Amino acid sequence: MRTVIAGGSGFLGRALARALVTAGHDVVTLTRRAAAGPSSNGRAATWAPDGGIGDWARELDGATAVVNLAGESIAGRRWSAAHKRQILESRVLATRSLVHAIGAAAPAPQVFISGSAVGYYGARGDEVVTEVNAPGTDFLARVCVDWEAEARAAEPLTRVAYLRTGLVLDRNEGALPQMLPPFWFGAGGPVGSGRQYWPWIQVEDWVDLVRFIIQTPAAAGALNATAPAPVTNKDFSKALGKVLHRPAFAPVPEFAVRTLYGQMAEIVAEGQRAVPRRTLDLGYAFNHTSVEPALRSALGKG
Ligand SMILES: NC(=O)c1ccc[n+]([C@@H]2O[C@H](COP(=O)([O-])OP(=O)(O)OC[C@H]3O[C@@H](n4cnc5c(N)ncnc54)[C@H](OP(=O)(O)O)[C@@H]3O)[C@@H](O)[C@H]2O)c1
Repeated sequence: MRTVIAGGSGFLGRALARALVTAGHDVVTLTRRAAAGPSSNGRAATWAPDGGIGDWARELDGATAVVNLAGESIAGRRWSAAHKRQILESRVLATRSLVHAIGAAAPAPQVFISGSAVGYYGARGDEVVTEVNAPGTDFLARVCVDWEAEARAAEPLTRVAYLRTGLVLDRNEGALPQMLPPFWFGAGGPVGSGRQYWPWIQVEDWVDLVRFIIQTPAAAGALNATAPAPVTNKDFSKALGKVLHRPAFAPVPEFAVRTLYGQMAEIVAEGQRAVPRRTLDLGYAFNHTSVEPALRSALGKG
């Protein structure tokens, strides 16, 4: 079994690579950097995700799975017009390169799992949204729509799944570690009204779900990678305060987040009550279904 992970050097790619190597897979990470020697995450190959293909494309010959996680980070800084272009183009061009490589592969990989995000649905208040709902119209929704559209060109070539990932909970990486400092100082709390929903998934579940999709021939099309019970930001903060034994009453004013992060504030100040209906219908059994134990487990607190 060989799995090729594009953007496998990042948070989710490394977690997935580690688990697959442990399970006996041969794992190849496609990276823009000079490829280092083999490690406990498999080996790396250098690629240029510019919409075309190169020698790296041979890594896909006969692969069991190709997982597409490559793209400019959306977090950490205000979105300028140039950064927004990079966020979109990096995903579209990386996906286009992979689709070309899948077309050239002999034999074709058995499944292409292409990244997407719950941002696909846009800001939806407390409306329950599943994989069949229409996309939103804001910037991140348009990125996800274009990203998925690019991957759709692989459908005549192989099985394609679009993984609409929510907030992935991990102790060391992703958004959760960045939320912790205010709580340590007793100043943690909801963002704005706290009524916005945050669809979350514990990192072990995210990894297990990708492995489930690889092994499940019926797993194709859009799949929400989110736990079955999304919570409001207020309830998320309350659960986090409880796990950390810290108060969670200090609201972060929405204007402060918007002043600091500009349009990027959409990610935390808005949300969607996304439910993984198709993922559950396919038979995936989540290990972590409620947020407090999931946070406890992600933070290594028992
Ligand atoms: N983490 C989450 O909670 C979450 C939630 C929803 C969706 N997602 C999506 O899932 C994917 C993986 O997430 P992650 O947290 O693992 O991201 P990450 O840590 O930022 O890793 C993404 C990888 O993409 C590659 N990359 C960065 N800029 C690029 C560019 N301009 N062109 C091509 N490749 C580039 C990098 O690999 P090299 O430098 O080695 O090339 C990087 O390691 C992302 O697309 C993200 O938007 C993540």
